Parts: sequence; structure tokens; C-alpha cells
Amino acid sequence: MYLALTLIFITSFPFSSKAYLTYASSVQVGAQSGIRECKRQFALEKWNCPENTPILKRLSTRETSFVHAISAAGVMYTLTKNCTAGDFDNCGCDDSKIGQPGWIWGGCSDNVAFGEKISKQFVDALEDGHDSRAAVNLHNNEAGRLAIKATMRKACKCHGVSGSCTIQTCWMQMADFREVGNYLKMKYKHAKELEMDKKAARAGNSADNRDAVTHTFLSVATTELIYLESSPNYCVKNQTLGLHGTEGRECFKEDKNMSQWEKNSCRRLCNECGLKVVKKRTEVFISCNCKFHWCCTVKCEKCKRVVAKYFCDKAAAHGVKILTSL
Ligand SMILES: *[C@@H]1O[C@H](CO)[C@@H](O)[C@H](O)[C@H]1NC(C)=O
Ligand SMILES: *[C@@H]1O[C@H](CO)[C@@H](O)[C@H](O)[C@H]1NC(C)=O
Ligand SMILES: *[C@@H]1O[C@H](CO)[C@@H](O)[C@H](O)[C@H]1NC(C)=O
Repeated sequence: MYLALTLIFITSFPFSSKAYLTYASSVQVGAQSGIRECKRQFALEKWNCPENTPILKRLSTRETSFVHAISAAGVMYTLTKNCTAGDFDNCGCDDSKIGQPGWIWGGCSDNVAFGEKISKQFVDALEDGHDSRAAVNLHNNEAGRLAIKATMRKACKCHGVSGSCTIQTCWMQMADFREVGNYLKMKYKHAKELEMDKKAARAGNSADNRDAVTHTFLSVATTELIYLESSPNYCVKNQTLGLHGTEGRECFKEDKNMSQWEKNSCRRLCNECGLKVVKKRTEVFISCNCKFHWCCTVKCEKCKRVVAKYFCDKAAAHGVKILTSL
């Protein structure tokens, strides 16, 4: 689920309401950055990370596993950044040192232990159910937090006579959040479906159920994403689940600069869903006639261009046809 944080949660947190308020805004910023990254990772896929959809509450699919992981990761990431930046009174850089020949620890390592602890208290508290789905969500939250640690790296600065680098100062820092997103997208592709009684899994709040899941996924590494049921058909609109289907979605036609992923987008979004690709002339405004003014600005005009855009549309009765002429 998307983290809609309200003050109702105050009572369920193990710190004062002042501490709660201190962290709450960061938690919200973090959850939003998680969702932004989700939308970026899935921009050209049938499921494109739509917000606030019932599917997140009702099902436990490969996609919901990603949403949980990236949200939890986003919250941990932001809290950690805030901590390192000195935004909170009670935490700062991680200065634990490990000796290595050739370099010394110094600078300011990202305090992921702090981010992990606080994000856990906020995000995991949202899973109040005792069913297998809650257990799976908690597992995926944890996998998201582990992704932050797995993508951390050592950064160093050289010292010594005229930058000879005889001594380096090093510290550990988190990767760009985009890289965490790439890492979790890979985990999404390899997510594991838990083999269990699906009907029992959805039935609700039985402790037996939760124990059964716990037992089942003791065999799955904490770093892996897991889910309980196969995905619904994302091609078609499904109001119950809050899914829009792919009709009307924009896709991209071959262009030298495009990645394979973009090049295939029309096939993936339209053709694979039994829709045809239609070309539409669209007016766009772009910057043009840019002039440099001393000193130092660049002023541009806005010029109108007609460009071709491609969209998925209902197929003609006799089948799929791709329009290629303007
Ligand atoms: C934490 O960082 C985010 C952006 O990185 C910022 O918007 C927010 O205000 C910070 N929180 C605090 C308490 O400074
Ligand atoms: C919507 O999804 C639900 C749950 O997967 C399914 O039972 C139902 O048949 C779907 N409805 C449509 C119109 O596909
Ligand atoms: C391809 O990308 C490069 C760098 O992003 C850009 O300079 C170039 O103009 C692009 N070419 C086309 C055909 O879009």
C-alpha cells in the first residue's frame, strides 16, 4: 500500500509524539520517492505502478511485492540521508571504522542503521493483519531495506603530496536511489511465488496461516521478493482492482537512440494486449533559436512542432494492424 500516514498512528509508536512528528514528514517524503521510482521503473510496462489502487490491498502479486519493497527502501533512504545531513538532533554520521592497508576511514558514512530502525517502526507497523499476506508484505519490506545495504559502496578521497594518493580517506555511502530501484527491479523479475494453499491464504486472520507462511519462506532468502498469487490481466480495465488497462497508453516507435525496452513498447503495451497502434499528430512546444546573452544567460524561443505520437487503440474487428504512414 502507499503510505498514507496519519496521526492515528501516533499511539502505536514506541516514541513520543514529538519524535513521531520529527520523523513523519521524512517518512512521507521517502514513501513518495519510492513511488516515483516505481513509476519510473514501470513506465513502459502494462502495469505502470498506478497509485492508490485496491489491487494493493486485495492481492499479493509480484507487482505488490515491488511496491512494498521500494516504499520501505524509499523511507529508509530518506531517513538515512536526513540523519547524515544533520536534520535530526539524535543521530549523525556512522563513524565506525574498519582498518585496511592503504586507506583510513574518515568522513561521514551514511547511518543506515538509524534509517533502518526508524523506517521499520513506521512502515512495518502498517501491517497489522496476522494473515499470510501481512507476513509476505513484511518480508518484502525487509527485502527493500536490504537493497539499500546491498547497493552501498565505498567512496574515497585522496591525500598526500600533490594528490599522490598515498593516503585515502574512505567512507560508506548509499548509491543513488535510482540504482536501488534498478536492483529491486531485478529482484522483481526473479520474485518467487510461494507454494501454498491460496484459498487459506486469502481467508484471513489465522495465526496458523501466518505460521505456515513463515515456515514456507524460511527457505527463501531475505533479499528475495515473494508473492502469493499470479498477476491479473493488466491489459484490461478492471474496476474492482482499480486497473486502467493499456488502451490509450502512449508507446514509442523505433528510434536510433532508444533502448531495446523502449523500442518494444508498442508491441508490449498494445499488440500483446490485442490492441492496435495508432499514430497521432500532436503539437508540442520546444525550445529553439537559443541565444547567449552576456553574461551569462541563454534565452530561447518556444517553437511549435508537429510530432508523431503513438497510442494503443481498440483493434479493428479483423485483427491487429500497425499504422506506419502519417
Ligand atoms: C529530509 O530530507 C528531505 C529531502 O531529502 C526533506 O524534504 C525533509 O525536509 C528532510 N527532513 C527534515 C526533518 O529535515
Ligand atoms: C477483475 O479482477 C478480479 C480478481 O482478479 C477477477 O476475478 C475479475 O474477473 C476481473 N474482472 C474483469 C472484468 O476482468
Ligand atoms: C541521441 O542521443 C544523444 C545523446 O543523448 C544526442 O546528442 C543525439 O542528438 C541523439 N540522437 C537522436 C537521433 O536523437
